Amino acid sequence: MDSNQSILLDHVDARPVTGDLDEAIVDRNTIVQLDPDHPGFRDAEYRRRRNQIAQIAVRYRPGDPIPDAPYTAEEHQVWATIWRALQPAHQAHACADYRECLTKLNFEPDRIPQLCEVNKKVQAISGFRLEPVAGLVQPRVFLENLADGVFLCTQYIRHHSTPLYTPEPDVVHEIIGHGVTLASERLAELNRLFGKAVKRTQSAEELEKLSRVYWFTIEFGVLREDGEVKAYGTGLLSSAGEMAEMHEAQLRPLDLDAAANEKYDPTHFQPVLFCADSFNEMYEGLRDYLISW
Ligand SMILES: [Fe+2]
Repeated sequence: MDSNQSILLDHVDARPVTGDLDEAIVDRNTIVQLDPDHPGFRDAEYRRRRNQIAQIAVRYRPGDPIPDAPYTAEEHQVWATIWRALQPAHQAHACADYRECLTKLNFEPDRIPQLCEVNKKVQAISGFRLEPVAGLVQPRVFLENLADGVFLCTQYIRHHSTPLYTPEPDVVHEIIGHGVTLASERLAELNRLFGKAVKRTQSAEELEKLSRVYWFTIEFGVLREDGEVKAYGTGLLSSAGEMAEMHEAQLRPLDLDAAANEKYDPTHFQPVLFCADSFNEMYEGLRDYLISW
């Protein structure tokens, strides 16, 4: 196995966009068009289930109860495998705020939680709710929904042949990453402020900058706690492998203007991370930046 392959076997591709919306709605019955190199490409049963789950999102109307996704025993096993890998990683590398939220949500180690169960708990804390999408969302749509306390959430789980790797955000990244952080009042507030800032943003160039700030904070942010570097970014918090390697990244002091101009590649471990001196510094700095955007 070359080093590139070993990295990909333990990575969550956390991009909020997995395709072109116009292409996606050409035929709603075949909405899942996996690339030939997707781990589930050759598994007809997996693709059928992905289509079935995508239909839930296509038919969903905001405010309706979210139907349960039909996960198989094998897929619950994928969750269990990831959970076992993440537990010690969270213990060692997750920030205190995240660990508190994780305790509050109290997930079962061997069963994928359904979105409606997660919503009951998260909404009671921060007012945020997860709503299902098939996975094909434009960045502006994804970010603007945050303003209204809505997180557009994929419901399928990665293929069982690669439990620690997914080439697109899946329900594990969405729930263990975003769902948990949205149970933090301060992180939920920052997500809302991102949405409001995006709504005030007209140009594609400025939207790109805001998306990068989102990437380097909400998705891949780190901060210092008692002198140690800890993760608050959802892309890190949903990948045991990337959390273990995050100290190898080039750590730069949190500078949001610099983050707005820093390009990134979502397909690999992040070589550059922006590190705040404390949770408060991150929260206040990002809050003020977004309010004055
Ligand atoms: Fe994400």
